[in-house]
Amino acid sequence: MESRAIVLAAGAGTRMKSEKPKVAHELLGKPLVNWVIDAARQAGIGEVVSVVGHLREQVIPLVEEDTRVVVQPERRGTADAVAVCREALAGFDGSLVVLSGDSPLITPDTIRALIEVRERSCAAVVVLTMELDDPTGYGRIVRGEDGGVERIVEQKDCSTEQAALTECNSGFYCFDAKALFSALEQVTSDNAQNEFYLTDVLEICRSDGRVVSALITEDPSECLGINSRIQLADATKQMQRRINEHHMAEGVTMTDPELVWIGPDAVLGRDVELLPMTFLYGRTIVANNTVIGPNSRLTDTVVGEGCSIDETVAIEARIDANVTCGPRAYLRPGAHMCEGSKAGTHVEIKKSTIGKGSKVPHLSYIGDTEMGEGVNIGAGSITCNYDGTNKFTTIIEDDVFVGSDTMLVAPVTVGAGAVIGAGSVITHDVSPDALALERSKQVEIADWKQRRHNASK
Ligand code: UD1
Ligand code: CA
Repeated sequence: MESRAIVLAAGAGTRMKSEKPKVAHELLGKPLVNWVIDAARQAGIGEVVSVVGHLREQVIPLVEEDTRVVVQPERRGTADAVAVCREALAGFDGSLVVLSGDSPLITPDTIRALIEVRERSCAAVVVLTMELDDPTGYGRIVRGEDGGVERIVEQKDCSTEQAALTECNSGFYCFDAKALFSALEQVTSDNAQNEFYLTDVLEICRSDGRVVSALITEDPSECLGINSRIQLADATKQMQRRINEHHMAEGVTMTDPELVWIGPDAVLGRDVELLPMTFLYGRTIVANNTVIGPNSRLTDTVVGEGCSIDETVAIEARIDANVTCGPRAYLRPGAHMCEGSKAGTHVEIKKSTIGKGSKVPHLSYIGDTEMGEGVNIGAGSITCNYDGTNKFTTIIEDDVFVGSDTMLVAPVTVGAGAVIGAGSVITHDVSPDALALERSKQVEIADWKQRRHNASK
């Protein structure tokens, strides 16, 4: 049977005290709502509909690529948020999972389990529940004498007796889509908050004689909803532990896993070693036997085998095998370090290829440059790629030796095997195998110290 999902992401999130909508806040480099959408996808769900509302101009760009976007014009409650999807799901007859866009720890396994339980029992609804020592704030699960779920009562509508119940609604459900949309027509806002509660659908389905059941989670932390920055930090810690334990189990060494932050989409090889204060975000891939850190942040960067990446920031960079970076290297988008090359201390590289075995060891900026193999760039050398209006390309062919403190004013080409004397400002192309020098003659005034001494008397 086909299954689809609705992700609720229209809420205000006032307790975040933020200019940003709650679901756009990031956990390990990924917005909360995208964690939920990706979990649904990994669970094998085909179409995902996201419901946006509050500050939707900030939410839509995050979700429009992977989901069908539906706007809830007014926040009238969770039942209303689902009801606005009626058209988007017209004709759909299968399992419809409803997920909260602010609950990033939900796993694909749990989503799959909800679907399986519903389909096996032909239930109208299966709700994911959790036993909590402190159920404050959550809807309580009221079970009938047969043990089935009778209804869910919100905190604000609870009697004292109901408030003492400890089985809580996680806010995750799998519905029979047809039964859901038909029950939604009967939901009213006759309750303490004057809202349309999605939870009322359970009681309606049960009185229609349909099966309504609960799946109790083994790990309540999966259901943690983020309402505040404190909960965001807490969820980050839990996810960090989950991800790091996975990678360690697969053969990655971490000196201190508390001090390594890896996003969900990173891929790591065997015998990768991650030193403290390392962040691997986005689609970062690291091949076997590479050491990263300390103090390194890689985003959407691919690193080959056997590299040493020390105190480096890399964004959308490509680093081939056996490359050395840092300490304190900055690789910006489009930086490509070919095999065995080096970007050393205080070196910035942008949109440039550093050829095989080429070295940029100290204090350099290389931008918009095509560098061949076996090049050595002396300390303090810079490609002047920008005239204030336009960017220009520098070409440095194989085996060039650039002396220290050279300015290569682009557009300029340095031919293979050429040597540039230290301190030169190179504004014209250099022929292969030539020596280029741009430097005024050194002047010497003999006995300067004595003359100055005599003059001051
Ligand atoms: C809801 C459940 C409660 C459950 C809890 C779990 C209802 C009535 N109650 O309560 O039983 O224990 O989740 O966390 O459903 N949203 C919209 N549009 C709206 C209202 C809400 O998109 O008009 C979204 C919110 O952004 C959020 C989700 O729906 O992602 C849940 O809404 P929220 O107001 O947080 O419900 P709770 O009071 O937490
Ligand atoms: Ca909530």
